[in-house]
Amino acid sequence: MKAIIPTGGRGTRMRPLTFSANKHFIPVANKPLIFYPIETVAEIGVKEIGITYNPGGLEEAQRILGDGSRWGLKFTYILQERPAGLADIIRVCEKFMNGEEFVFHLGDNIFVGGINEAVQYFRRRKPNGLITMVHHTENRRMGVPYFNKEGQLLRYVEKPENPPHDFAVPGVYFADSSIFRCFKEDAIKPSSRGELEIPDAFQWMIDHHLLVDVVEYKGKWLDPGKFNDWIEANQYLLDSQLAPQLESEMGPGTILENRVKVGHDCQIEGSHIRGPVIIGNRVVVKNSYIGPYTSVSDDCLIEDAHVENSVIMEGVKVSKIRQPIDTSLIGAQSEIVNSDRPTSSLQFFIGEKCSIEI
Ligand code: G1P
Repeated sequence: MKAIIPTGGRGTRMRPLTFSANKHFIPVANKPLIFYPIETVAEIGVKEIGITYNPGGLEEAQRILGDGSRWGLKFTYILQERPAGLADIIRVCEKFMNGEEFVFHLGDNIFVGGINEAVQYFRRRKPNGLITMVHHTENRRMGVPYFNKEGQLLRYVEKPENPPHDFAVPGVYFADSSIFRCFKEDAIKPSSRGELEIPDAFQWMIDHHLLVDVVEYKGKWLDPGKFNDWIEANQYLLDSQLAPQLESEMGPGTILENRVKVGHDCQIEGSHIRGPVIIGNRVVVKNSYIGPYTSVSDDCLIEDAHVENSVIMEGVKVSKIRQPIDTSLIGAQSEIVNSDRPTSSLQFFIGEKCSIEI
């Protein structure tokens, strides 16, 4: 079995961060989001992954992911000419698959408990296609399976207006090579949003008497597709997975509480850090409070500030801010500083589609 993990797409729901960064490489709990799917796929014994990219995206993907050897994997980079949908990603991987069955794991989904049960089902029962489903209150913005009275999958629809239940199909899909037929004979067409939708590829299989099964995924599924979900994913991963570890010495007046992980060459003094908190390398924290569920990436400076439940990306500077900063995502190299100006005016230099609440 091979795997596909995409790095492309428009990332519209994560603007403004995605104006300059690829969503797949933005950190959750100080790890690029796409590392989670790579690890999940490695766990089920897959050795070869096709990493798809859109024009302009190859260099960064290769710089961050390399050739796969750090996970004991082999990566093949495959061009998708434009972000034309998830089914289109499968289409461009046909040659790479070379007749093998595969798992397609979205690069921005996290299956916290792994996907072992689903892959075992696929290997044991050998359907042509297999999707999973989870309970989700917002399934109207997702793929939804429809069943007949016997519980067989009849239809699989992208973002239906009135789903009959609360099941949604998350971003892991299994198929054998018969799926590629849907791009040839009586080929599937782009949807109203101009994309080849993943449900349409599986629907084609159902309509052409191929067997598509569904298994319920009972573990925790994270879909950090937009602001709130990113914060939730960061919270959940810090809460459930963070192991305390200190690679730097704590300076005078520092109090650590609960689970705290600190990288190397940090300077932390006069501060209260209340875990779960992860701090990267070369971070300076002075006279500050860093509260639960905060991830601080490498090379940040936080002084005279209070930050909690937030994701602070690389090279951010937060200085002399009196009000607590709570539930925030702060993009790389941003600065939030109090310049001690005589008036109480605020000064901004911010890009498009930023969100500031004061
Ligand atoms: C995509 C799929 C959808 C699936 C979802 C899971 O949606 O099209 O079927 O349920 O991922 O994250 P999109 O993120 O493109 O809206």
